[in-house]
Amino acid sequence: MSLELKNIYKIFKSGNTETVAVNNFSLNIQKGQLVTFLGPSGCGKTTTLRMIAGFETPTNGKIYLEGKDITNDPPNKRDISMMFQSYALFPHMTIKENIEFGLKLKKLSKKEIKEKVSKIINLTGLEGLEDRRPDQISGGSNNVLH
Ligand SMILES: Nc1ncnc2c1ncn2[C@@H]1O[C@H](COP(=O)(O)OP(=O)(O)O)[C@@H](O)[C@H]1O
Ligand SMILES: [Mg+2]
Repeated sequence: MSLELKNIYKIFKSGNTETVAVNNFSLNIQKGQLVTFLGPSGCGKTTTLRMIAGFETPTNGKIYLEGKDITNDPPNKRDISMMFQSYALFPHMTIKENIEFGLKLKKLSKKEIKEKVSKIINLTGLEGLEDRRPDQISGGSNNVLH
């Protein structure tokens, strides 16, 4: 798995104001690499992530996933997930049901769903909290981040 951003620009236009949110950004990430964007507020971190996930289209430049041009693919057509800063969970569903939701949409078998749910529960350290709703568990430091 590899992700490549090639000469990415994002310019937001409203009326006669132009904001250059991302200015000629290139990056190559290989499978297993952990990458962090660090920079002052407004430098284009979120816009870059949104373009990788498909929620924004670059004004210019290309995005490749495993060599395939995904620049104009919608979010549901790319094999990429985005965890939002303010999380989007279904408040009326339990932790387990929230995890299952996307897997059911993908039409995975019951067995596969069960395996994946338990893998994710273990990975996130949420063992024992599967049947609670989001408002019944601590949001951790997310509560104070904006
Ligand atoms: N939808 C938008 N319309 C207009 N300007 C935007 C939009 N989204 C972000 N921007 C502007 O683009 C720049 C980069 O924003 P952003 O990617 O959110 O930065 P960061 O996540 O690094 O704080 C900022 O100047 C911001 O105001
Ligand atoms: Mg941001």
